Amino acid sequence: MSQTKVLLVANWKMYPQTIEEARAISRRVDSLLKHVKHMRFVICPPAVFLADIARAAAKKKIVLVGVQHIHAELEGAHTGEISAGQAHSVGARYAIVGHAERRALGETNIETGKKVFMALTSGLTPILCVGEKERDSQGLFLKTVATQITEGMSLVPQHHRGRVVIAYEPVYAIGAPKPPQESEIHHMILAIRKTLTQTYGASVARNVPLLYGGAVDATSAPQLLHNIPELQGFLVGRASVDIQKCSDLIQSLS
Ligand code: PGA
Repeated sequence: MSQTKVLLVANWKMYPQTIEEARAISRRVDSLLKHVKHMRFVICPPAVFLADIARAAAKKKIVLVGVQHIHAELEGAHTGEISAGQAHSVGARYAIVGHAERRALGETNIETGKKVFMALTSGLTPILCVGEKERDSQGLFLKTVATQITEGMSLVPQHHRGRVVIAYEPVYAIGAPKPPQESEIHHMILAIRKTLTQTYGASVARNVPLLYGGAVDATSAPQLLHNIPELQGFLVGRASVDIQKCSDLIQSLS
């Protein structure tokens, strides 16, 4: 396995139910990571736990913290929303943007693009999620993902383009029992690189880390990382919020 840093992003979604459980998972991750040199681990807890988890993480300086969702504007009368600057001020360093579960609520590529810009402007590294809902035989899904990338990155100034992380998450793989065929993931990862190269040039394409997400666990992660050399890590849902599964996942990549 390559010794370049693997980026693991834990998307906790609306779990766990208590701050005690959240602290317990993050403590466990911290203690496991002490022995793993080549991994960067970002916990994206529910927003109400963000400051607490970030404070604890800052003491240990191992785990990083991200926000699951930000608003496209700097501030405003938006009940229940969180700004990128607020998330940054309590210790978040990453922001998941354009997750399929947010797109399903109506988030458009244009809004995603504004959020990517807002994240960067506020000092957060955006994790731009892209992925098709289904694969059609004409290959239109390739265009869907290419458009999600170009519209998602359309407001990013040239000098910031290498700071965006892209997570490829085919919608049908999120919450599924296992990931799709490796060849399908590999094909799309190469297509994403090609889109980045054609749109922004080879050096940007080289610098943008590409993650895969959807049913990642201790069984699938090491195989995917081994067989898809262009992959730099994973966006993980279920397996990141269960102490045992999360420990197994970290150990499987150690
Ligand atoms: P999953 O979710 O790992 O539970 O499939 C991934 C995601 O939605 O980011």
